[in-house]
Amino acid sequence: MLHILVLGAAAGGGFPQWNSNDAIARRARAGDPDLPLRTQSSIAVSADGRRWVLFNASPDLRQQINDRRQLQPAPDAALRASPIAAVVLTNADVDHVTGLLNLRESQAFALYAHSRVLGVLAANSIFNVLNPAFVPRRPLPMDEPLMLMDGSGAPLGLSVRAFPVPGKVALWLEDGNARDFGTAEGDTLGLEIAGADGRSFFYIPACAAMTAELAARLQDASLVFFDGTLWRDDEMIAAGVGTKTGRRMGHMSCDGAGGSIAALADLNIARKIFIHINNTNPLFIAGSPERARARQAGWEIAEDGLEVAL
Ligand code: MLT
Ligand code: MN
Repeated sequence: MLHILVLGAAAGGGFPQWNSNDAIARRARAGDPDLPLRTQSSIAVSADGRRWVLFNASPDLRQQINDRRQLQPAPDAALRASPIAAVVLTNADVDHVTGLLNLRESQAFALYAHSRVLGVLAANSIFNVLNPAFVPRRPLPMDEPLMLMDGSGAPLGLSVRAFPVPGKVALWLEDGNARDFGTAEGDTLGLEIAGADGRSFFYIPACAAMTAELAARLQDASLVFFDGTLWRDDEMIAAGVGTKTGRRMGHMSCDGAGGSIAALADLNIARKIFIHINNTNPLFIAGSPERARARQAGWEIAEDGLEVAL
């Protein structure tokens, strides 16, 4: 069985974002039960319920560990110990890599990412806080199943098939003079994560567009976590809090003709869950008409702490 734990449901910035001062953010900070606070996007997966693999390392990781007993050292473990055996990255976004800095202190685990993302980490010496004697960095092959191993090479009972999806290079790595801001294949990955019994699910927290190839992969899936950044492509502009469309940020929207609700509607997916949800997305608001529409279309909205057994 696969144990899946949503550590953070929100996109970069979390919910509410630190500088948000709109009515929704104010209600959330005041403890409105319709607006629980959400940390930044990450899930943890375990085959044995004991050793966990993080998929993306959010800047909120320290809080996520303190919130989730599964990620805390077991009572009978050594004086320095962690159930986190590996980390797999889908891109180099701030909301997906900076949590690695919480994992310093010479604790062994394995780090997996596309070679381009490993290159970004190698070029930023602050990531040297991950002592290479304890934290091997392993490139993810494309479109091949890979057995995940812990830092010392012991198998974790999980395999990952990584594949490129349409997307954009991380915001902080954009090159304004290059085509597509310097985006290259491998900058944004989707993952199919499988247990020993072959049961699998998809984790795709960023995706700029649906392609025929991606649709074919997702056909008949048991479970898909999918990019829920924006409800509408221009919602940040309409709300007066930003100048960018979702398209410009490398995210397809939930709603609309080219949106994910329409794109995944006919793929016979048993369970669809939006994750990486931006603070402007009305999906966060319990009782919103947008949430009702997504639910009607068969979607769930990830919450911090959601557990799924597959
Ligand atoms: C994104 O998902 O588009 C990025 O996380 C944006 C950001 O870096 O804030
Ligand atoms: Mn992001």
